[in-house]
Amino acid sequence: MHVVIVGSGIAGLTAAIRASTRHDVTLVTKGALADGATAYAQGGVAVALGADDSAALHQADTHGAAAGSADARAVDVLCTDGPARVRDLIALGVPFDRTTDPTSLDRHGDDLARGREAAHARWRVLHADGDATGAAIERTLVAALHRRHVTILERTCLTDLVVRAGAVVGVDVLDLLGEPRRIDADVVVLASGGAGHLYRETTNPLVATGDGAAAAWRAGAVLADLEFVQFHPTRLAVPGGGLVSEAVRGEGAVLRDARGRRFMTAVHPDAELAPRDVVARGIASAMRDQGGAPVLLDASGLDPTFLVRRFPGLTRATRTAGFDWTREAVPVAPAAHYSMGGVATDAEGRTSLPGLLAVGEVACTGVHGANRLASNSLLEGLVFAVRAADAIDAPRPGRMRLRGDAGLHVTTVPTAADGTRASRPLRPGGADHADDAADVRGAVQSVMTDRVGLLRDAGGLASARRALAGLTVPDPAGVQDHEDRALLDLARLVALAAETRTESRGAHARTDHPDADPGAPASYAWVARPAPVPQEVPA
Ligand code: SIN
Repeated sequence: MHVVIVGSGIAGLTAAIRASTRHDVTLVTKGALADGATAYAQGGVAVALGADDSAALHQADTHGAAAGSADARAVDVLCTDGPARVRDLIALGVPFDRTTDPTSLDRHGDDLARGREAAHARWRVLHADGDATGAAIERTLVAALHRRHVTILERTCLTDLVVRAGAVVGVDVLDLLGEPRRIDADVVVLASGGAGHLYRETTNPLVATGDGAAAAWRAGAVLADLEFVQFHPTRLAVPGGGLVSEAVRGEGAVLRDARGRRFMTAVHPDAELAPRDVVARGIASAMRDQGGAPVLLDASGLDPTFLVRRFPGLTRATRTAGFDWTREAVPVAPAAHYSMGGVATDAEGRTSLPGLLAVGEVACTGVHGANRLASNSLLEGLVFAVRAADAIDAPRPGRMRLRGDAGLHVTTVPTAADGTRASRPLRPGGADHADDAADVRGAVQSVMTDRVGLLRDAGGLASARRALAGLTVPDPAGVQDHEDRALLDLARLVALAAETRTESRGAHARTDHPDADPGAPASYAWVARPAPVPQEVPA
């Protein structure tokens, strides 16, 4: 069968390598192969490999961070399949750090060095090259891909899925010359990552514009959990600053406010190692109290030799920004990091559309619930990509069973009538418009950051919905237009989902509904009717 895989991070590469043993695979990716978010991952891969650990303990931590809202089956699959998948990576040659390192990272008598991150009860985060885990994995997988018979189309941008008689039968792309092209497929696997660029500040690479999720939405696939957007607590708060791994706090760094006080101790018993959403909100609140200035991450209490060897990339990044973090604290602030929501799938990556699978960040298996546990995302990409590749056993693999039994509330969103596909042109400065924006992307990012960010309320969400309804990307032509259209489609859905969930749960915090509502659905899901992608009539 001809399988088209969209995306070249850990999920896309793993799916391509696995599927290539049985199928004719074409891998399509918007940038160069290694341009996605995987190569940015610092902390590592969470996996229960230690003698003191178990899949059950890893599951308990995953559920704990998710505020009790993760899908039990998906979490079971993640934590149970995880060790075998990580051993596959080791067999492929990923150079995970070992405890023979001269700085002695060994705390457990195991030769795989294991780090700790927030909300993990065990030291279970494998890392490579200190803080360059994702880059090491990406490099190894790209090398493995080149040893397979896979057609690789770099700088090729997904614009839409091709739908015939209700099934996905191919992809429309812009090729590397910017020319529209159609690629037929028996099966399409979306592994196109997240949409961090919905927000002004993000830890994500430039390619993270939600193209896959938006295309799936337009094709009529069910999307779920879109209100759950994870903000990483610590992005280096300098222009262009990137992620500062949670592993730094795992090794003992602390957060301080502008007056030098540790504020997280008053917020949560686990202080800096509380779940990520709690720490991000704690920082946001401290920033508000000090007029918006970033807080400080203080690693100066760690042994300087250890700090530099354990985090070589971050040592370089902080030095470039003008800091010696062995001696002084560095400014940090939360930034959009990861979408828990996406294209709804089962544990084999099957979506609601025959012929379409989705894996990795673009997918929503429910494994992260309302808040992803640190370093579960690389593991997710690995585990579910292999399961999806193995599920490709027939053209147009059957559609998933929706998680309806577990409380998935699917709402049909009319695409013409309610403004979610509004066609009014962008008029910056209009009453309901983001008045400081010169372009659609800037307008979307302003609205999302200011009104659909870490803290939300009914007034802000309603005004966000109106502002987003007033934007449009008429006649998208180039890659940036298509990215802007994807961001706008998703922004509308995230705002709608956030407005609909009138409670606070995990990463979704409503100041007007500060408590969890035990009666609220575990999952809100959305489907476009009629699907805006023209449905081809069978020949
Ligand atoms: C980090 O290193 O803090 C990021 C890891 C993750 O997103 O899970």
